[in-house]
Amino acid sequence: MHSIEEYRSDFMAHMENKVKIKEPVNLYEPISYILNLGGKRLRPVLTLMTTEIFGGDYKKALDASLAIEVFHNFSLVHDDIMDEAPLRRGKQTLHKKWDLNTGILSGDAMLIYSYQLLESYPEAIFKKLMQVFSQTALEVCEGQQYDVDFENREDVTIPEYLIMIQNKTAVLVASAMKMGAIIADESDEVQDLIYDFGKNLGIAFQLQDDYLDAFGDPKSFGKQVGGDIIENKKTFLYLQALETGTPNQVQELEHLYSIKPKDATDKIVKIKELFVETGAVNLTLKEIESYTVKAFNTLELLSLESAKKEILRQFGTALMKREV
Ligand code: IPE
Ligand code: IPE
Ligand code: MG
Ligand code: MG
Ligand code: MG
Repeated sequence: MHSIEEYRSDFMAHMENKVKIKEPVNLYEPISYILNLGGKRLRPVLTLMTTEIFGGDYKKALDASLAIEVFHNFSLVHDDIMDEAPLRRGKQTLHKKWDLNTGILSGDAMLIYSYQLLESYPEAIFKKLMQVFSQTALEVCEGQQYDVDFENREDVTIPEYLIMIQNKTAVLVASAMKMGAIIADESDEVQDLIYDFGKNLGIAFQLQDDYLDAFGDPKSFGKQVGGDIIENKKTFLYLQALETGTPNQVQELEHLYSIKPKDATDKIVKIKELFVETGAVNLTLKEIESYTVKAFNTLELLSLESAKKEILRQFGTALMKREV
């Protein structure tokens, strides 16, 4: 097995080789900008790692891993437009650095390019990869629509929220792993199990994204801290606080979530206090752990050498401790 650092650097070399700025530069320069802003490269690493865990040659998974990362970055470009986000990975978001139209079209081109990258696979593998990729892409759109719909709904439930994040975030993590299993020519049963592992890990990942959005360190987080609060996003923290808060706390939260002040500094401070005082923060951290453990339980059903399961466990544990 190779190390995460090796997967990441091979992935980066592959991306540099494939993604070039060409004419029209106003289309391709923004694409190169967002792809080279950094990021954890979590999904492509998972694709390469999963391929090798199931006995495949991880180099054969490079195009698929790039397809996943390009798709992910496309979704971020459009997400940042929808969320009116100024910062991504510590730099200006694409639509702020250029403009809205550039964000829309560069995003479109990235989505199409991500599909094109799968054309290098033999027909039978190509078809399976396409099936999971297209289904996932649609589910991400569904998740994003729910996310936006929830901003203006007062009756969002925690189960609804969990379906929303499963779609907007977890299915792509799940598919990154399933695609590795497909390239390694694994059985449908194994593909489904690793998908499930990735899905639960992905849910934990988005719960933590919600947590960090409010409580991350502005110096290292790379996104605008409090961005979800500014946009009145119904995150797990918020929904949990509504459940456990006293009537007064709930009333204050609901009021704060109905306004969009020009300067949100005060609103953010008050809401973060309420998240802590209602116990929502602790419950969110517990939930992150519980979905990670759920993912680990799926591993028990896989017949894999224990050393390989341990690699996956370590990856999940490291994700739980991430701060960006
Ligand atoms: C951000 O994903 C969007 C979410 C689904 C939470 P990442 O946190 O993986 O972003 P990068 O690619 O590392 O910047
Ligand atoms: C992003 O969710 C999910 C997708 C991009 C599909 P968020 O809106 O929470 O992601 P960040 O926090 O902007 O990275
Ligand atoms: Mg966003
Ligand atoms: Mg969003
Ligand atoms: Mg977020």
